[in-house]
This record gives sequence, C-alpha cells and structure tokens, in this order.
Amino acid sequence: MSAIASNTSASTSGGNNGNGAGHGAGVRTVGSELHSSAVVDQAIKAIVGEVKAKSAKITGERGPLDPALKVSFEEAMKRAAEVRGRGLLYPYLGSGIGNGALVELMDGSVKWDMIAGIGVHFFGHSDPGMIEAGLRGAMGDTVNHGNLQANFEVYQFGEKLLKLAQRKSKLAHVYPSTSGAMANENAVKVCYQKHAPASRVIAFKDCFMGRSVTMSQIGDAAAYRVGIPLSTQVDYMPFYDPVMAERMGQKRYIDMCVSHLTQYIERYPKQHACFIFELVQGEGGFNVGTRDYFKALMDVCKANNIAVWDDEIQSFGRTEQMFAYEHFDLGDYVDVFCVGKMTQVCATMFTKEYNPGPGLLSGTFVSGGAQFQTGTQVLDRLEKGNWYGGEGVFAKHHRLFREQVHALAKKYPQWFPSVSEKYGQLGELANGLGGMMRFTPFGGEKAKIEKAAKAMFEEGVIVFYCGHGPYHLRMLPPLPVFDEKDWPRVFACVERGLAKAAQ
Ligand SMILES: Cc1ncc(COP(=O)(O)O)c(C=O)c1O
Repeated sequence: MSAIASNTSASTSGGNNGNGAGHGAGVRTVGSELHSSAVVDQAIKAIVGEVKAKSAKITGERGPLDPALKVSFEEAMKRAAEVRGRGLLYPYLGSGIGNGALVELMDGSVKWDMIAGIGVHFFGHSDPGMIEAGLRGAMGDTVNHGNLQANFEVYQFGEKLLKLAQRKSKLAHVYPSTSGAMANENAVKVCYQKHAPASRVIAFKDCFMGRSVTMSQIGDAAAYRVGIPLSTQVDYMPFYDPVMAERMGQKRYIDMCVSHLTQYIERYPKQHACFIFELVQGEGGFNVGTRDYFKALMDVCKANNIAVWDDEIQSFGRTEQMFAYEHFDLGDYVDVFCVGKMTQVCATMFTKEYNPGPGLLSGTFVSGGAQFQTGTQVLDRLEKGNWYGGEGVFAKHHRLFREQVHALAKKYPQWFPSVSEKYGQLGELANGLGGMMRFTPFGGEKAKIEKAAKAMFEEGVIVFYCGHGPYHLRMLPPLPVFDEKDWPRVFACVERGLAKAAQ
C-alpha cells in the first residue's frame, strides 16, 4: 500500500473527508464538496509528486554544498541564536526537505537523522503520506482547532486512539493538547480532582515529564528546575535496577521496593493522588523495567486508591508493542495515560471513573488540522504495519543496532571501558527496547558523551544523549522508513565521530 493510499484511508475513515461530517441523505455540505474535490486531489497529487521527485535527490550523508552556502548558513545560525538568546545545541537548520532518515540542512549538507526530533518524525523526512495528510489538514477553515469550536477531525483522531488503546486497557476518553507537558498537566489535574484532597505525587527516580512548573518539579532533574519554587510534593521511588535485583534476587528486591512504597503511604496516609509510571524511561536513560516490578507497585496503588498514571509520551509506538503497557501486559491497571511526540497531537486519556467534572480540561487550542490529520495517519500506519512483536520490524532493527555496537566495541575496545565500576550499573554496551536505542562509550562520562554526539553530527549522523550518570548516546530512529541495509552506513559515521571524540 502506498503511503498516499494509506493516508487517504486514514482521512476518510468515519465516512467523511476528515474535516467534518458532511454527508447525509444525499445532501452534501460545501465543506464536503471542497474536501472531496477532484481539483484538490490533483493539486495535492502534484505537490506530493514534486516533493517525492526532489526528495529522491537526497541519497546519502554529505558536507555543505558550497562555501557560499556555508557562509549564509553560519549567518542564519547567528540570527537564530540571537532570536533564542543562546546558541543552538547543534548547527541544525533544516532546508525543508529530506528523504526518510536523511535530512538536508540549509547549507546543503545531509545527515542521517537518528534522533528524529526526539522521536517526533517517526516516519522520517518528506514522507509522501504525511505531506498529503498535512496538506489536507491545512486546507481547513481554521489553522488551529479549539476546545470551543473544532471540526470533526479532532474527534476522529481521538476515536482512533481509543480504538487502539481499548484493545488492552479500560481507557475511555481522550483530551488532546499541543505538548506533552500540557498532556501531563491535564493528567495530574484529573488525578488530583478524583482523589481530592490528596495532593502528593509518587514518581520514579530519573523520570522526565516536561518543562511546565509542575512537571519540572516532578521530573527528577535538579538542573531543569533551577529557580522554580517547589510547590508540588513528590515522593521518589527507585526505578527498576537490574543489578540490584540480580544481587538481591528478584523477589527480595521487589519486596524491598514495595516496602519503600508502603512507607510513603503510611507516612502520608490518603495523601497520594497518583503514581506516575514511565514504563520505559526516555530522558532518564532508556531504562526498561519488568512486569513483575511494575505490577507489584501498581497492586499497592490499587489497594490504596492511588491513580496509576502511565506517561508514554516518549515510548509510545516504538517499543515491541504499540503501547508499553501492552508490552508489560499492565493495561488493566492504567487509570490515566499520556501520549505525544510521534502522534503529532498530544493527548491525555482516562477511564470512565477518572472522567473529570466540567471546567477542568479546556484551552483555546487543542492542535492544528495538519497535526490531527498526520496524527491519525501515524496511528493508522502503526496499526497496519508489521512492526510489533519479537519478530516485528522494530525488534529486528533493535537487534541490528546492537550488532553494530558490539562490532564497534570489538574493533575499538578502548572506546568502551566498563561503566559498572564507576556507576555500579550493568556494563551493557547497548540497551533499550525496540526503537529506543542507547549505547555507552567512554564509560558513560558526561563530557565525553556530549563531545561524541557533537563529533558524530559533524561526521553525518544526528544522535542525542540521555541518562543522569552513566550518560548514554541515544537514538530514536525513524524506523518505519529506515532500511536495515543502512545500519552500516550510519555506523560508519558513528565510528568516525567516536574516533574524533576519543582523541
Ligand atoms: C516521558 C515524557 N513525558 C513528557 C515529555 C514532555 O513532552 P513535551 O516536550 O512535548 O512537552 C517528554 C518529552 O521528552 C517525555 O519524554
């Protein structure tokens, strides 16, 4: 099925054009006429065809196209830094086109994009289906939909998300928003209201929740809340630690953590509104827990009337199941859920019991037509592809990624000293789950990891880092459009970058 065909099916699901119900008893609205117009179809086909033709010219990483472009790029970088108030982390200013995992910058250089906007562009750059969905969404009468006035595509997106979520959970409703932090803000409000006057939150060590005032307090990173008054009461639990669990034995380790949680509940009786679970930690270092560990803690929450809130903003869609709660078979426990990044529209979902009273969730914008159309298409393509399970495309890519890291470590053992001595953690070279991939050169030392990420960028591959010590290099590649044959090409850039950083 072509990407365009898949988009058309996404945008027409529900029996209309995705921009509002417009058919009935043979009578058509003007909107329905517009959105099914053959002239529009032709125009979109022409634009998508042109994008495809230009995109096909991008075939591999390369440096700037010529010295004049390099100079104008540097000027643009200066202007961007001036606007922002600080220099950009990477010299990244896109030219507006790419081809799958490859992206062209304003100086004509081309990079392998193995981070995809922290996983946002999961279908890569200049994807024809996404372009078509975006064009159809942009054709609506408003750029942004609002809580008060929205076209039906907002609810079609929600219906699709619910249909997928309900395969393995009791989630019943969706409220969309424009960022992950806002989705989380809405989630914490839902939990507070349901369990009022309980005001405390339980969270895992190393969790990340976004940058709003509340989320930067719950997120376990001191550097992200410098100068922010602390108004939210948070109790931290250890995230699953495989080394400790191995040393103590799984059962004793889990019992110890359950007793840790019980102590909080006894110390502050009936004061906890929720426990926020990030089942596969993103910013915290692509740490992966186990079903037994999470289940034991969720059982305590259920017994004590504490909401189980699952933040899958980073992990959604890219582990070995569409939802991480499916991967761990924990869907029945989830009361409140957040999704974002690759869905283009972020959302808070909740069960019937957690449906809040009127007035709690609202806002001028819920997101734009292009986002709802592309978001619906993302869900559609995730549903229809052969991505999930141990033999799925994502698991296969993950194995290939690990093979590349191990081959590199064999060739250059000096770049991969043990992390276990310094940090008391497993000395795994490569880790993560599905499309969340991390590897740990230079003993996980922060300065070296940052240097390596920058050197890799210069050498043609964009990666980022994660973790709080040890630090890791992380990839969130656009797996659905990434050809497995390209792993060696990407790792050739990684190798050159590490060689530079090792100097
Ligand atoms: C787990 C998690 N929650 C929340 C957020 C915040 O999302 P946003 O940056 O869209 O506000 C992120 C972003 O990285 C995240 O990884």
